[in-house]
Amino acid sequence: MERLKHDLVIVGSGIAGLRAAIEASRLSPGLSVAIVTKTQAMRSHSVCAEGGTAAVLYPELGDSVESHVFDTVKGSDYLADQDAVEKFANMVPSEIYQLEHWGMPWSRREDGRIAQRDFGGYSYPRATFAEDKVGFYEMQTLYDTCTKFPNIIFYQEWFATSILAEQGEFRGITAIEMKSGEFATIAAKAGIIASGGAGRLFSFATYGHSSTPDGMSMALRAGIALKDMEFFQFHPSGLIPSGILITEGARAEGGILLNKDGERFMKRYAPGKLELASRDVVSRAIITEIEEGRGFRDGDGLEYVNLDLTQIGAQRIKERLNGIREIAMKFNNTDPVEKPLPVRPVCHYTMGGIDVDIDGATRIKGLWAAGEAACVSINGANRLGANSTAECLVWGRITGGAAAEYAVKRSDSPPSDGQALKEEKRIFDEIFHGKGGTNPYAVRDELQRAMDKGAYVFRTGEGLAEAVKVVRRLKAEDYLHCDDSSRRYNTNLTNVLEVESLLLAAEAFLAGAVARTESRGAHARRDYPKRDDVNWLKHTLAYHTPEGVRLDYSPVKITRFQPAERHY
Ligand code: FUM
Repeated sequence: MERLKHDLVIVGSGIAGLRAAIEASRLSPGLSVAIVTKTQAMRSHSVCAEGGTAAVLYPELGDSVESHVFDTVKGSDYLADQDAVEKFANMVPSEIYQLEHWGMPWSRREDGRIAQRDFGGYSYPRATFAEDKVGFYEMQTLYDTCTKFPNIIFYQEWFATSILAEQGEFRGITAIEMKSGEFATIAAKAGIIASGGAGRLFSFATYGHSSTPDGMSMALRAGIALKDMEFFQFHPSGLIPSGILITEGARAEGGILLNKDGERFMKRYAPGKLELASRDVVSRAIITEIEEGRGFRDGDGLEYVNLDLTQIGAQRIKERLNGIREIAMKFNNTDPVEKPLPVRPVCHYTMGGIDVDIDGATRIKGLWAAGEAACVSINGANRLGANSTAECLVWGRITGGAAAEYAVKRSDSPPSDGQALKEEKRIFDEIFHGKGGTNPYAVRDELQRAMDKGAYVFRTGEGLAEAVKVVRRLKAEDYLHCDDSSRRYNTNLTNVLEVESLLLAAEAFLAGAVARTESRGAHARRDYPKRDDVNWLKHTLAYHTPEGVRLDYSPVKITRFQPAERHY
């Protein structure tokens, strides 16, 4: 077992992880900061973000922080913690300018100032954008900035497997170097988990296939709860058949949704905001259209509605939506300049995540979480588009700063070997050399099918219970083994670990979803169609125990905005 040592270790190299590394390094250039990522950093899933980063840039033109806070809280169906949302909306504008100073090529208005577009659920066009490749440009800007700090060391293609903690204090992580297959401990005084969400629980997802909830599973196994995991976002426009995201920016630029009768059906569901109502509302409308027979069906039986961008015009599409045009031509053989795109709701975001406080701190001293891996919570039961990249920037900065401050004050206390040796034995003796008859890839496929069926846009107690049964059965099967016996780049081994993470996250998700007998935001229960503030205005906390999930609850922080019925 190799033993490495840094001051701060960050798991994940997306927007939140990179932003955290930069903040820690800016504040304390003497700190040694490790970024551990199972992909190449620039292949982190953040590069796929398309449409925007929400921020109030033009108060003189009518936008306000208060309005950003209100839109976010309303979008969350009042489950967001309002103190966190206020902190967020106040901090995000300076992140936009900070990125600009680091080289971010924001799109421009005619007068040369930074451009913004409308997005779902907002009362002001505050999605700041760079064409429709916001994540790619933000990642490039942050990665480039990281390379200017000699104290930031990248461990690319290293697969983190567990959190090392003693007496409730963080000591480091364990990881596998994929190139050699060697197991290592990375001791550190402070840690940040920024490894993304869990949407690959579903087969039709905008997530890259490598984007699995490994960090969430590490947290669960270290005794930290996952919060509000029953809330998964289904983005209205996943391209048929792959599920690749067609940005909401396409609707913001003038795209409209049509059913098979050519009707712009959103006028019946959200007369005020039409296609730019919040995502939960638009996704339910699409599924309702399909269920009531007004959808289309392709040759493979896939049902969808049309997203028509033709009226936007070729020039504007090429200028502002070139990324999705390329995607549509490559993956659906359709040029949106000429023809509508077939879309349906697609799993896009995990509102829940690792339970953290307003500063991103977990219950393990010295360990923080940020970005989609964490649940602060600013998104509550439904996130507004363009608030995710913004959250990654803000809590990357907050947690990077807090972790640096903590690490500077700490003396070295490396982990003792016991926990790491146990983890090494689990991975190599039990899984790598393990025997078993069940194909882990078949387990992953069956899990995804069960989630697609029982936990999609609309849910029932019965459907969720069926999914629970499948997950329990799959967990008990002997899939934790590896057919590939080579050590170098053994993706079979890491895939098995990913399936294990998916199953743990699924269990936490389903336990919360079964228990939550109401409909709120993206959790739409047909058997409990109303929001129930008396019993359910609270956060779900799901803990992993050997006997299964233990649920607990915590209060929602309401400051300025009392819960009200949502209309768009
Ligand atoms: O539609 C989009 O471009 C997605 C943005 C987001 O999820 O924030």
